[in-house]
Amino acid sequence: MKISIIGAGNVGGLTAMRLAGEGMGEIFLVDIAKGLAGAKSLDLEDASALLKYNYKIKGTDDINEIKDSDIIVITAGLTRKPGMSRLDLLNKNAQIIKDICLNIKRLAPESILIMVANPLDLMTRLALKVTGFKPDKVIGMGATLDAARFANLISKELNIPPGDIETIVIGCHGEGMLPLPGFTKIKGIALDEFLKEQNIQNLIQKTIGRGAEIVSLLGSGSASFAPSAAVTEIIRAIIKNEKRILGVSAYLNGEYGIKDVCIGVPCRLGKGGVQQVVELDLSKQEKEAFLKSANDLKEQYKNITI
Ligand code: NAI
Repeated sequence: MKISIIGAGNVGGLTAMRLAGEGMGEIFLVDIAKGLAGAKSLDLEDASALLKYNYKIKGTDDINEIKDSDIIVITAGLTRKPGMSRLDLLNKNAQIIKDICLNIKRLAPESILIMVANPLDLMTRLALKVTGFKPDKVIGMGATLDAARFANLISKELNIPPGDIETIVIGCHGEGMLPLPGFTKIKGIALDEFLKEQNIQNLIQKTIGRGAEIVSLLGSGSASFAPSAAVTEIIRAIIKNEKRILGVSAYLNGEYGIKDVCIGVPCRLGKGGVQQVVELDLSKQEKEAFLKSANDLKEQYKNITI
């Protein structure tokens, strides 16, 4: 299994470390910045003697090294600065993603692509267009992270281990995301058995603002520990054909009555990528909010001018 990570910055480097630690294939780390990917791969190689893992990793600034990859993660692109929204990155990252995707199409036409760059759903849709890949092979990582954030915040509020909490977040990976309390269970028990409506709403708002909170504290750069863990979760599900249901940005072609948009939805992931888009039985209010999020994404996509 050959896994290439394009963009050896914070998320890319940590993803490489996690994948190596789990022995998930041969890893190629690629970055346009001369020396960066090479340096990180040497550093990771050195760690293998201490961690007692025998993994293969190579760092390069030559995009041709992604040839015939099975899985490609795109963690290249600009990050937002304090006060910026993910959308503010639109055209700069679109140019980067377009160039990378043309190379992916040329060098690794059979690969499964996992998008991380922001604005996530729009970059996923762009990757689908530029590569011409089948939709089940183009996956955006956003809702997995958002659900983990929601679960973490609930766990802190209730002093319950996060692993006992199941959450689902749908919609765009941005201000319009929809953490779904009605689909959130603690060991099978509904969330509203534990928390009052106002507390739940507060946690939803905190979840939506979590990325910005981290960006603002960092001053430069964005979250990377949880995002790299979420990417690893998705790759594990695909490589091991786990058929797990995880929230990812996937192309909708009529599901939820929506067409031609990539947006966060629960999907069954396994061999080949997205095996099924799971359609939740949403309430009227949830449906309306989800539709709005999808329509907003369609409008925003039109602003890509590259
Ligand atoms: P970073 O700045 O640490 O790393 C980005 C790397 O991409 C840099 O090393 C840069 O040299 C490289 N790069 C730029 N253009 C390239 C190209 N054409 N080919 C190869 N490499 C190229 O950024 P970080 O924190 O790793 O974030 C990367 C992207 O992921 C950003 O767009 C960020 O907004 C997004 N992100 C998305 C998350 C999500 O939940 N979907 C979570 C965290 C970050």
